Amino acid sequence: MPLDIQPLNPGFVGPGFVGPGFVGPGFVGEVSGIDLTQPLTAGQVAAIEAGMDRHAVLVFHDQHFDDETQLAFSRNFGELEISSGGEMSRPEDRRLKIEMADISNLDQFGRLRAPDDARRLIALGNQLWHSDASFRAVPAKYSMLSARVIPERGGNTEFADMRAAYDALDAATKAEIEPLVTEHSNAYSRELLGVRPEDYGAENRDKLRPVRQRLVRIHPVTGRKSLYLSAHIGTIVGWPMPEARAFIRDLAEHATQPQFVHAHVWRPWDLVIWDNRTTMHRARRYNDRGEVRDLHRTTIRGDGPTAEQVPIAA
Ligand code: OGA
Ligand code: MN
Repeated sequence: MPLDIQPLNPGFVGPGFVGPGFVGPGFVGEVSGIDLTQPLTAGQVAAIEAGMDRHAVLVFHDQHFDDETQLAFSRNFGELEISSGGEMSRPEDRRLKIEMADISNLDQFGRLRAPDDARRLIALGNQLWHSDASFRAVPAKYSMLSARVIPERGGNTEFADMRAAYDALDAATKAEIEPLVTEHSNAYSRELLGVRPEDYGAENRDKLRPVRQRLVRIHPVTGRKSLYLSAHIGTIVGWPMPEARAFIRDLAEHATQPQFVHAHVWRPWDLVIWDNRTTMHRARRYNDRGEVRDLHRTTIRGDGPTAEQVPIAA
C-alpha cells in the first residue's frame, strides 16, 4: 500500500490567504500505508519530508517502535540532538539513552516519580506552549514522539500552526516584528513555573545562557513565514524586559487561538512528528501521580542558527 496522507483538520481561512473560500491543506496530516519500524527507501523518506513541509505535524498509528528502531528511523531525517533533560541529568538517574528524551512520569527504576522529584517539576514545563530546544543556538527541526503507555484520562498534546498565526497578523504588526530578535533560555520557561536558577546546580549554568532567535522565521523549503514563539523567550533584544514580555504574551495568545490549534488524542504506538520551526506545542494535564504516561522522543537538529549569537565573554 502506498503512503497516504489525509488532513485531520481544515486549513485556516484568514486575511493572509487569497480569495474567498480558500482552504489550506490543514496543518496536521494522518499518514497510513507505511511501517516506520522497517528500513525506509529514499522515496519514502522524501514523501514524509514533503508531507511535513505541506502540513507541519504528521500522525502515524500502530508504529511498534523500540528505542533502537526509533533511533534508526529518526536518523533518516538528520543529525540527532542530545536531549536537554539527558544532558542535565546524572547518568545513574537516566531511564533512557541520552539521545532519547524521556517524556514520561517514571524514574530510572520504572516507578512513578515522587511528587517533589526535580524531573517531574521540569517535565511540567512541557505544559507551557513552546518549540523544542528554542533555547539552543541551533534549535530543533523535527521532534518525533512515540507513545508507549497512555493514561486513561488527559495527557493530550496540542499543536498550534505558527504559519497561519503569522498570516493572520495585520500588516503593521508584521512590519513591526520582522526585524525583531528574541532571547530564549530554559531558565525563562522554568521561571514561569517558579523554578529558580539556583535549583539546577552550578554545572548547568552555561546551558541556561540565553540564545538569540529571529521572531519571524522563513521555512527553508516552502518560503513561508512563521512566528517563532516559545515559553523559553525572556526578552526582545533592545527592549525593556517588561515591555517585551507583555508583547510576546500578546503574540502567543493570538497564535494559540482555537482556529490555529489541533489536539492530538494519543493511542499507544502512535508516532507524531512535528516541525518545531513552524509550530508550538504543549502537553495537557493528566494524573501523573496515579497513572503512567510514557512517551519517547527523538529530536532532529536544525540546519543552523536563526540569528547571530552574542559572543561569550571570556
Ligand atoms: C515534547 C513535549 C508534550 C507531551 O515531547 O517535546 O513537549 O504531550 N511533549 O508530552
Ligand atoms: Mn516539547
